[in-house]
Amino acid sequence: MDLKLKGKKAFISGGTHGIGLSIAKNLGHEGCEIIFCSRTIKRLNFTLDLLKNMNISAYGYQCDALIREDVDKCINIVKDEIGGIDILVNNVGGGGSWGSEDITNTDEIIWHQVYEKNVTAAIKFTNGFLPSMVENNWGRVITITSTLGIEAGGRPWFNIAKTAQTALMKNLSKNKMFVKKGITFNCIAPGPIDIPDTGWAIKKKEPKFDEFIDTLIPMGKLGKPEDVANIVSFIASPLAKFINGSSITVDGGTSTAF
Ligand SMILES: NC(=O)c1ccc[n+]([C@@H]2O[C@H](COP(=O)([O-])OP(=O)(O)OC[C@H]3O[C@@H](n4cnc5c(N)ncnc54)[C@H](OP(=O)(O)O)[C@@H]3O)[C@@H](O)[C@H]2O)c1
Repeated sequence: MDLKLKGKKAFISGGTHGIGLSIAKNLGHEGCEIIFCSRTIKRLNFTLDLLKNMNISAYGYQCDALIREDVDKCINIVKDEIGGIDILVNNVGGGGSWGSEDITNTDEIIWHQVYEKNVTAAIKFTNGFLPSMVENNWGRVITITSTLGIEAGGRPWFNIAKTAQTALMKNLSKNKMFVKKGITFNCIAPGPIDIPDTGWAIKKKEPKFDEFIDTLIPMGKLGKPEDVANIVSFIASPLAKFINGSSITVDGGTSTAF
């Protein structure tokens, strides 16, 4: 299927590892120009090389999504050098295993840090890039949330942050000033996705891991980053023009919310 994404400019926050990297590759494969940010030069260079070797036009910027000056600088450089974007993927997030199971032993700062990483970062990038979409009379804002953005569970700071991201997209999807111009706002809500060098990769080595996964996920296996990236590309495409304010789970049937 031709997703009609050729020539669109897509910005992915945290596009150098895991789900974000897979989204960058997938949208690039569909013909988008890829712009991404992350904190570490090593990952930025790795991703730039990888995408260029795939003949994908790519630009990477060092930016910590938690630092206001970094984000402002990144948005301004993208505006000046690339002339705005068509597609924003708010992928930076996480913190689901931060703090401790015992919330009374978890410093209040964790609640704020997880909120900042997920919600404030998404607000900053969305606010920063929306004007160029308004100018273009077209746009896509896609936020990578979690099944814990649509139902209760996990650590409360993460549950709060992911639900707030969902509320942000849903609220903006009602704003006629944007949506009548062809800008849509949606969430992709992953369940457990197998990412190298992260929590799941470590957990995999534990005894009874397979049993644990079989109980947790009806399909009996972890998802792959490309499972998330495939649906992101569709939602980013002009073909998904009437999908607005949705939260699409990619979880092998894990969540219980309707
Ligand atoms: N993996 C899962 O099972 C799962 C499940 C549900 C939801 N999600 C959501 O999916 C999203 C991506 O998760 P992931 O597991 O793919 O993460 P990941 O593999 O740890 O990758 C995170 C990416 O974001 C960048 N990053 C991290 N902090 C940043 C910051 N402050 N500023 C800028 N860039 C930053 C990282 O690069 P640098 O280190 O260079 O900054 C990296 O490119 C998150 O929103 C997460 O909550 C994941």
